[in-house]
Amino acid sequence: MDERWAHEVDWTTISFDDLIKMPIQLRIIIARRIVASGFLKKSTVSVKEWGRFDSLPKMTYEEARHEARQIVSTMTIEELVGQMSPNTTVTEYIPACLKYNDTPYVAGENLAWNIPGIRFTDGPTGIVMGSASTCFPVSMSRAATWDPELEERIGEAMGIEARAQGANLFGGVCVNLLRHPAWGRAQETYGEDPMLLGAMGSALIRGVQRHAMACVKHYALNTMENGRYTVNVSVDERTLREVYLPHFKTCVDTKVAAVMSAYNKVRGSYCGENKYLLSDILKDEWKFNGIVISDFIFGFRDTVKAAFAGMDIEMPLAGRYGQRLIDAVNQGKVPKSVIENAATRIIATKIHFSTVGRTSGYDIAEVASPAHEQLALEAALKSAVLIRNEQKTLPLNKKELKKLIVLGELANRANIGDMKGSSHVYPPYVITPLQGIKRSLSPSTEVIYGTSETVTALEDEIREADAVVVVVGLNSDNEGEYIPHWDSGCGGDRSSLELKNEDIQLIKHISTLHSRIIVVLQGGGTLLTYPWEELVGAVLITGYPGMEGGTALASILLGNYNPSGKLPYTIPKSPDQLPPFDKDAKEVVYDYFHGYFLADKNSDVVSHPFGFGLSYTTFTCSQLSLASNKITSDGVLTASITVKNIGAVSGETVIQLYSGYPNTKVMRHSKDLRAFKRVSLQPGESKRISMSFAIKDVAWWNEATHDWEVEKTEYCIYVGQSSAWEDLTNITFEVI
Ligand code: BGC
Repeated sequence: MDERWAHEVDWTTISFDDLIKMPIQLRIIIARRIVASGFLKKSTVSVKEWGRFDSLPKMTYEEARHEARQIVSTMTIEELVGQMSPNTTVTEYIPACLKYNDTPYVAGENLAWNIPGIRFTDGPTGIVMGSASTCFPVSMSRAATWDPELEERIGEAMGIEARAQGANLFGGVCVNLLRHPAWGRAQETYGEDPMLLGAMGSALIRGVQRHAMACVKHYALNTMENGRYTVNVSVDERTLREVYLPHFKTCVDTKVAAVMSAYNKVRGSYCGENKYLLSDILKDEWKFNGIVISDFIFGFRDTVKAAFAGMDIEMPLAGRYGQRLIDAVNQGKVPKSVIENAATRIIATKIHFSTVGRTSGYDIAEVASPAHEQLALEAALKSAVLIRNEQKTLPLNKKELKKLIVLGELANRANIGDMKGSSHVYPPYVITPLQGIKRSLSPSTEVIYGTSETVTALEDEIREADAVVVVVGLNSDNEGEYIPHWDSGCGGDRSSLELKNEDIQLIKHISTLHSRIIVVLQGGGTLLTYPWEELVGAVLITGYPGMEGGTALASILLGNYNPSGKLPYTIPKSPDQLPPFDKDAKEVVYDYFHGYFLADKNSDVVSHPFGFGLSYTTFTCSQLSLASNKITSDGVLTASITVKNIGAVSGETVIQLYSGYPNTKVMRHSKDLRAFKRVSLQPGESKRISMSFAIKDVAWWNEATHDWEVEKTEYCIYVGQSSAWEDLTNITFEVI
């Protein structure tokens, strides 16, 4: 394979095996040839909408399953395997290196039977397909809203935009747990806590599934990037059950349509071939009715093992299923019943979802509609986390602002997250921080922009200014999916959690010139803030805030919106406070402690605790009480607390409830998040709020009995505005 070959090869003859060996430069040459030829337009003959299921009456999953069995009973081996295999061809897939997932990746479509395929679009920042979808803040930023109700509305918008662009399966519900913040794809998930992950992921699913199928990923224990294809994860059963799986279970309980397996191995077996994960736990124990799809290319390696393990659909190309699976069945290596079961699930899921959503159809005008832009703005506003605000550095007073300095290369960049991997959304526009700030100020405020290179020339202006806003952090070259890209870096896991040296130098430099400095942090993964944050007045984390990020930032800086986001992860003081992380490891052990669980265990003083975030007002919590302080193990605990806004402006906060185990006989975390609630209060207003959780949630996994067990003993409830002990009040109860 060389350049000459790429210019001359008949691209219709390129096989899956050729494709995976092909260097990116050659792929690009061929991709451009394919696009120029107009082949892609010609190749899209497909079943429209839900095909033969289009006018079915509303059906429960059980009814759909019955219907599916009838169809499957008359299908040939080729047709059954066809349900489990992609229709997208290598030729159609090659142009993905120019624009990934521009059209849906299709599997299981059968034109003769008029059975629709699953039509996959990726996320989670929005709909990856097309070139005008709404770009929301990334999931990690949305996690900072602690607002499942908002996440559900976002899911609904994504479901509509997926359908309006010809997809019926949204692959963007990522709930992998952030074990270590160096993970390159941290931005795609909802943080370090299993309960928060489950609450946000299931909210997204509920919204999406009003219109389309949702797929939760990457099942399971995928939390490092560079070694994702090779790493083997060892995990004890308790840690698996209590730390790494609960959020997937929550999504399954929400009736998610599909689960995508992870690339990595767990206990020596690739997740896509892992019978324990896919069949024993997911399908048998959790009663998952939907479909398992593989992660894309190398989602599994062995046709027979995968089929036996419960892998229903290979994506996005027929590398290991397709003809190889047909051969395996014909040779007696895979029983026909295995493919019949898979095809039944697949068809039942399609039938069920064909009766979901609008019968009137979806209009392309709904993609990035004004309503969805507004939603992106709401999410950007609620997701910003103010972690430092000394002497009321923020908000800035618009009327008194004569000169404002905006610094940093990122202030002037459409920085929306990973722009090379599978989550890259192409929005119609992006408001940068600089644009947002300029638009919000009247001409009487002079806004001067500079970068690390030009800051020295701006020293006098900085001294005279009213305030300095510095936008620093990460972009797509520094993290994200680990993909050698044709026009930028590889991304992947980070080697350091520090800000870039030039950013730290910039902050140090301006701290000698001005006392009112606001640092705006962008990025998906956690950035260390110690010790540089002591040099500045305010630090606001905006993450990757989506297409309306600049508008939201300006509103917060100027006090038109009072920040209410809370950290979905711990910001450690130093990497020593984290579990070990080796991005090139071939073997890793995931244990019971990370994030705030580990900080609690070691009594670490971190920079900013999980759940923490400031406001322009002050809230107090008092009078914690329980509906009952003796509860049976199948009961529900309800706690109430009074929250008061004692400041001068209205605002929102998130009240968090953790459980603790003072009398436990087994090893436990010091506390686990069990419930939370967003509260909105006017100045002087107070509200009595209640939060509940099922007592079975405090069960621990007993490896000896291979079952959950609730200890009948005394427990403690901690309620407050962050996970820090000093922010929590407590009360005890007993499980009887
Ligand atoms: C990623 C998945 C993604 C899939 C399809 C893979 O490389 O790991 O998260 O959904 O591609 O785009």
